[in-house]
Amino acid sequence: MAPRPLSSVAVLLLVAVAAAWTGGADGCPASDRAALLAFRSALSEPYLGIFSSWKGKNCCSRWYGVSCDPTTGRVADITLRGESEDPILARAGHSGGLMSGRISPEICLLDRLTTLILADWKQISGPIPPCITSLPLLRILDLVGNRLSGSLPADIGRLSRLTVLNVADNQISGTIPSSLVALSSLMHLELSNNQISGTIPTDFGNLRKLSRALLGRNRISGVIPVSVGHMTRLADLDLAENRISGDIPASLGFMPVLSSLYLDSNRLTGHIPAALLASRGLSILNLSRNAIEGEIPDVFGYRSYYTALDLSYNQLRGSVPKTLVTAAYVGHLDLSHNHLCGAIPAGSPFDHLEAASFANNDCLCGGPLPACR
Ligand SMILES: *[C@@H]1O[C@H](CO)[C@@H](O)[C@H](O)[C@H]1NC(C)=O
Repeated sequence: MAPRPLSSVAVLLLVAVAAAWTGGADGCPASDRAALLAFRSALSEPYLGIFSSWKGKNCCSRWYGVSCDPTTGRVADITLRGESEDPILARAGHSGGLMSGRISPEICLLDRLTTLILADWKQISGPIPPCITSLPLLRILDLVGNRLSGSLPADIGRLSRLTVLNVADNQISGTIPSSLVALSSLMHLELSNNQISGTIPTDFGNLRKLSRALLGRNRISGVIPVSVGHMTRLADLDLAENRISGDIPASLGFMPVLSSLYLDSNRLTGHIPAALLASRGLSILNLSRNAIEGEIPDVFGYRSYYTALDLSYNQLRGSVPKTLVTAAYVGHLDLSHNHLCGAIPAGSPFDHLEAASFANNDCLCGGPLPACR
């Protein structure tokens, strides 16, 4: 059957829809285009030449990394990743690119922006423009893997729609703004590997939607707020390699979905809460390199499933918990560099562990260590 010619009404409709999709015949508004060009002129990316596609009137069409809201024709999304699977980067023969320069405050003129991803370019420096907090629709702010400095904007809490805040692997300093806990939509918070100091806000637990909080490798001090234990969606908490002191709040043992907890290399003291070790769902617990004392609570059971349990380099006393043999699974176990004593229980998981897991204690004996006498 021969293709039927489209009726003129259908053609007109198609033209109208196409025009709406591209934001009209002129493309994006001149003000959005000007803001993008100002943003681009503060950056330099000489290797891949991605900005060479930023030409012509219509910034909503074929400008690499830019996309617009189809109904308003306004710029909604800037996604530029230095290390990506993107075929354009792959064809250029680069596993990753370099971009230097700064983030121009003119980005804040793109007041319909929902996503700003400027990730893994290694060399972008300068501050996060404080005016970024005036972008009312911003949902994703991902600036990981650059050399950004300065502090997080004090009024970051204004970004009421923000779901992802990732500034990990930069040189951000200053403290965690107290307004951060007002980010009621926040699901992912990644501040790891910066120079952030000060304390974790006491009401951090107000971040009810948060599922990952990665704050490791900073200079954070003070205690772990008790409110953290009231976070019902938090699955991954990383506070490793900071200067956190005080006790581990017992409330952490009652978190419904906590699955990984990294508190290693801090200044924690006190005892390990029994509820924490017994908590089901927790599969990675690293408390290594603190000053935790007392006995290891003997509270493991058939619901215990640990891919990694590292309690090494503390001041733990007493014996190796006998209930560990009842655990459903214990993969990696490290109890070394403590003051444990007595016989290592027989059976799984102890039959697959190496002597290094028990090294440098006071008087442990039995397989995999030499027999007790
Ligand atoms: C736990 O943390 C210590 C110190 O930060 C680190 O050396 C060790 O590899 C970690 N253990 C696991 C199982 O990740």
